[in-house]
Amino acid sequence: MKNTKPTILITHPFLLQGFSTQTLEKVKVEIASTRSVLERLVEHADILVVRLTDRVDSALLARARQLKVLATFSVGVSHIDLNACEKRKIKVLHTPDALTEATSELSLALLLAASRRVLEGDEMCRKHAFKGWEPDLLLGNAIRGKTAVLVGKGRIGTHFGKILKFLGAKVVFVTTKTSPTAIQALLQKAQILSFHTDLTPETTHWLSAKRIDLLPRDCVVINTARGAVIDERALAHALKTKKIFAAGLDVFEEEPKIHPDLYRLRNVVLTPHLGSATIETRLAMARLACENAAMAFFGKSVKNILKPQLKIQRAVKK
Ligand code: GLV
Repeated sequence: MKNTKPTILITHPFLLQGFSTQTLEKVKVEIASTRSVLERLVEHADILVVRLTDRVDSALLARARQLKVLATFSVGVSHIDLNACEKRKIKVLHTPDALTEATSELSLALLLAASRRVLEGDEMCRKHAFKGWEPDLLLGNAIRGKTAVLVGKGRIGTHFGKILKFLGAKVVFVTTKTSPTAIQALLQKAQILSFHTDLTPETTHWLSAKRIDLLPRDCVVINTARGAVIDERALAHALKTKKIFAAGLDVFEEEPKIHPDLYRLRNVVLTPHLGSATIETRLAMARLACENAAMAFFGKSVKNILKPQLKIQRAVKK
C-alpha cells in the first residue's frame, strides 16, 4: 500500500523526542545521520528538521523538490539560504524563546569565570600549588559598577542585560540603529563586551582588530552568539598581549576548530557551543522545531515561523 503520510526527515535521533505520540501516528520519520544520507533522503522529504551544523544551501534545497517546511533546532538561521526558501515558499521555523534563559546563563557563567579567574584557581588547586590565602592572590574584575556593552537587543541580549543590571553593572546596548561614532565611544568604555546577535554580513567580524584597539585594558569579552562576529585571530592576539583582561568564548569562527593560541592562554575560558545546552531547553527546542514543523505542514498556525519579510531582509543582507 502506498504511504500517504508526509515524510519528516530529521538529522539527529535526539530530535525524535520533539514529536508528540499523536503526531508520530500521522507522519513517517526518517533519520539522516550523515550529509550524504541527508542529500539522498531529502529528495522525498516533505518536512526537514536540521541542526545549526547542517548547511541548508541552494544545492541541498534544489534536491528537496517536495519540501514544504524546514525547521532548525536553533534560534540562529545563518546556516540556511533563506532567499532560496522564500522563492520556493518553504516555511522556515526556528526556536526563539526556548533558549533565552539558558544562553544568558551561559554568558553569565563565562563572564564570572573569566572575570574571577576561576580556571586559573582550579588549576592552582589541582596542581597542589595553592599554598594559602594571600591578599593579592589571583585578583579579578568585579561586575558591580562596570559598563557593559551588549551587542544585540533581542530576547537573549535583553535578558542578559537584566541579569547584569541586577549585579550592578551599567548596561548599554548596541543595535542596528547605533551609529559608528556612538559605537566607537561605547567601545572605549566597555569593561564588559558581550555578543547577542545572529551572524549577518553586517555582524561578521563586528569586533575587528581596529575596534579591539579601542577597548580598555580591563575589558572582558563574552561571546555566546556566533564565532564569526569576532575576528578570532585579532582577539587571540589581544588576549596574548594582555591588551584586554580576559574573554569567555562559547562559539568560534570555524567550529569545531579553535584558534591555536586560545588553547594556550590562561585569560580565556572556552566552552564547546553550549549556550542552549540544558536538558530542559534542548527538549523544549526539539518540541518547537519538530512538533511545530508538523503542525505548520498540516496548516496550523505556529508562533516560531520566520516571517517572509524577515526572511527577505536577512537573505538580502547575505
Ligand atoms: C545556538 O547557537 C542557536 O542558534 O540555537
